[in-house]
Amino acid sequence: MADALPGVLDDLKDLVRIPSVGADPDRHDEVRRSAAAVAALYSAEGLDTQVVEVEDGLPAVIARHPAPPGKPTVLLYAHHDVQPEGDPANWDTPPFEPTERKGRLYARGAADDKAGVAAHLAAIRAHAGEPPVGVTIFAEGEEESGSRSLPEILRQHHDLLASDVIVIADSGNWDIGVPALTTSLRGGVNVVVRVDTLDHAVHSGMFGGVAPDALTVLVRLLATLHDEHGNVAVDGLISGPAADLDYPIDRLRTEAGILDGVELIGEGSVVERLWTKPAISVLALDATPVDKTSNTLSPSARAVVGLRVAPGDSATRALERLKDHLVAHAPWGAKVTIEKESVGEPCSVDATGPAYDAARAAFREAWDGTDPVDAGVGGSIPFIAEFREAFPDAAILVTGVEDPDTRAHGANEGLHLGEFAKVCHAEALLLQRLADL
Ligand code: BES
Ligand code: MN
Repeated sequence: MADALPGVLDDLKDLVRIPSVGADPDRHDEVRRSAAAVAALYSAEGLDTQVVEVEDGLPAVIARHPAPPGKPTVLLYAHHDVQPEGDPANWDTPPFEPTERKGRLYARGAADDKAGVAAHLAAIRAHAGEPPVGVTIFAEGEEESGSRSLPEILRQHHDLLASDVIVIADSGNWDIGVPALTTSLRGGVNVVVRVDTLDHAVHSGMFGGVAPDALTVLVRLLATLHDEHGNVAVDGLISGPAADLDYPIDRLRTEAGILDGVELIGEGSVVERLWTKPAISVLALDATPVDKTSNTLSPSARAVVGLRVAPGDSATRALERLKDHLVAHAPWGAKVTIEKESVGEPCSVDATGPAYDAARAAFREAWDGTDPVDAGVGGSIPFIAEFREAFPDAAILVTGVEDPDTRAHGANEGLHLGEFAKVCHAEALLLQRLADL
């Protein structure tokens, strides 16, 4: 593995130079370029590789090494699309210029999830292009923008993607030096909620006090989403049981960067609040920008509301509950419309059986004797529920490169290179152990 790593890192750097931002229609050609670059890397290892794309979707890559007789087939999942970089001014170095500093590689996608794409490449190279099991790599191209094509891709390419074990390298580890197997993920529901109160903007002195402005209404509406303790106040959402893992509050405050004096929200243990309860956050707002203000009442305003759905709940049902709540709580008879929505289902994994034993042994070996922790995460990978529906008998192993300071989706996203080497090593070892089962 040590021999393969420098080349893999160079390839990862080339991949992150491509701004494959799925949420930005102006960059869909970059997502296509990214798919082609990923396909070229796998194809060069001798894998039978194709780029697949369905109408109105973004391209995924499928690359296959047939199973040697009697050996299982392992599907290796990652995604090559990335989140928007946000304001480049918030980055210490340009977001699409990979930069190494103090043991990390910084760039959008350096971790989430082009590192997953690269880890699979490393595992193949560690076996000199001839892994001891069947391997199908599936590199999705629209994970960060809602995975809309997935059901259709899984339907069209069902036979190509069939596998006994699936490794999803898009989550993370418990800490630097402590690996994890992710055993539950929340689902994700986003809506764009729009409030209309006036048919045109009016002078705030002339009509303020009688005519409700849309931004005030929106803010009041958003404030109904939590109770005074910060618990989610939408009726009908499910919470799961507490996971048995201590996440010290001091550690959480540091890792999340919570300012001194700012209180935590919600009730229950930390991991319950992060992994097995719903959470709601206001993610974005469209209104008059501060430096464009002109003492007018806004006729309309919009917000993105993100709801994380607990494992065991149904994201589709939770979306209906959220929409009902927003419409029912419209202050002062304001017009509330849900303009856009997306849904990813939660999942939990029964992490027992030979594939999990093999994974734990591979992790322990790669992390020099440290056992992996069974951990939940609060984020979402919609692919897992979709895949499970298509292939109910496959064992699902959720791994990944993220660590508590990865800053995925934020400015200065960075891959910890020491941990990345271990993730690659563990995956190569896992393929061998699965062959030996
Ligand atoms: N890698 C993340 C999922 C994740 C987040 C795993 C946090 C472990 C910890 C994945 O790429 C992601 O960000 N998913 C989106 C899905 C959404 C667009 C449906 C998410 O969770 O926001
Ligand atoms: Mn992500």
